[in-house]
Amino acid sequence: MNTGTLQRNRQAAGNVPAPHRYEQLAELIVDTIDNGTLAPGERLPSVRAVSEQHGISISTVLQAYRLLEDRGVLVARPQSGFYVAATQGGTLALPSASRLRSKASTVSISGAVAALLEHASNPALVPLGCAVPDAALLRSHRLDLALARAARQHGDRHNVYGTPRGDPRLRREISRRAMRIGHALSPDDVVITNGCTEAFTLALSAVARPGDTIAVESPTYFGFLHTLEVLGLKVLELPTDPVEGIHIEAFARLLDAGPVAACLLSSSFSNPLGVSMPDARKRELLALLARHGVPLIEDDVYGDIHFARERPTPFIALDGGANTLYCSSFSKSLAPGYRVGWIAPGKYAQQVVDRKLAFSLCSPVLPQVALADFLASGAYDAHMRRLRRLLEENLRHLTRAIEASFPAETRVSRPAGGFALWVELPRGFDSRALFDAALELGICFAPGDVFSASRRFRNCLRLSAGWRWSERIEEGVRRLGQLAGRQHRS
Ligand SMILES: Cc1ncc(COP(=O)(O)O)c(C=O)c1O
Repeated sequence: MNTGTLQRNRQAAGNVPAPHRYEQLAELIVDTIDNGTLAPGERLPSVRAVSEQHGISISTVLQAYRLLEDRGVLVARPQSGFYVAATQGGTLALPSASRLRSKASTVSISGAVAALLEHASNPALVPLGCAVPDAALLRSHRLDLALARAARQHGDRHNVYGTPRGDPRLRREISRRAMRIGHALSPDDVVITNGCTEAFTLALSAVARPGDTIAVESPTYFGFLHTLEVLGLKVLELPTDPVEGIHIEAFARLLDAGPVAACLLSSSFSNPLGVSMPDARKRELLALLARHGVPLIEDDVYGDIHFARERPTPFIALDGGANTLYCSSFSKSLAPGYRVGWIAPGKYAQQVVDRKLAFSLCSPVLPQVALADFLASGAYDAHMRRLRRLLEENLRHLTRAIEASFPAETRVSRPAGGFALWVELPRGFDSRALFDAALELGICFAPGDVFSASRRFRNCLRLSAGWRWSERIEEGVRRLGQLAGRQHRS
């Protein structure tokens, strides 16, 4: 399972000395999970018990547990201990790392994206194609009340043009929450946007000009590709590992070979691979980008949907915002229909505010006021605790259903957050043909080729688990797996 990752880490480091004691212990735990002695969802022995049993210090055991927690192998439950993460399948391998493509290319994806989004929003289809949780899972009565109250009490006050930077109270609440991601922001550092989509669009247009090249992980979120196409930007698809993230050494070689205007990453539980780069790799990437003067546009829209105790550290917290434009929104966690996102653009603030004025003048005021009230009430944390549990459970069901019905050679991601899985079938498999056949059966998913400008990953698909698990969904996955099996054998 994750043993490979630990070994790969060491190989990547070259001739390094023998592993630390905590790494050895982590490897032992992974082996114990691999051989089935510890099952998904099972509790690990207490830190004290392991410390006594192995004659090592408590802090060494904790270090090993935390390492595995960061890797999504274990989950810490407050006041209860460490558990084997429920989402690990174990019977299917992880997807392969994507390969190097050394040339930047223009993007032409808008038709495919529009067609997919139309199917993905069709309620008649089994919803495995939509990268947003169902409104029924997201629904918060307190947010509904906050919106109703804002409209009832001060409807006329809020029916105005807001400032281009956005509602000051909402910016204050967002900057308060930034402390939890390990980065100090002031309300003046934040610009409210229409979803994360406007945030990364503003960021791209602030740092790049038409014809410039933007480096992205590969596979990458098709919304990034669509925006790059519309802005006339080229894309450089970086080789990406499903656990370690983008291949930094390969990126370094590409940066030596030609100019790159920015790097655009979905940084926590990336869409679609589900990767969160380990902090050490993030630091390496930041150092590389800083050396080449390339800004990083970080999209952290899934960061709050973490199954481990802590959320992944965003890049902005590691470089203090020196070279990072941070983008996020409430779309995946609370209210996609409110269209409220934000950007912390750092030194590009003026360019971003100019563009915000030019593109949309300001964001709608009422949803911002309601969200500010909701955040100030403290209700967001309880809401997120509930949502994380539900989505983790959904991913566990989806993983099991894939294991039970897809061909044995199928590979599948094991994200420690978010709500989508990246599924890889053997080379030569055609997920477009599967997509057409699945639509006929009333099932929608996202075919792999929309996640690449060069239309790679035709043998892959992304399945989302944002809906409450049901017989209908289970049956949809089963039929999809059977279809895939038939196509694979023919
Ligand atoms: C990585 C990523 N960023 C942004 C978005 C869209 O965010 P928003 O609805 O806030 O514009 C999505 C939606 O799928 C996404 O996957």
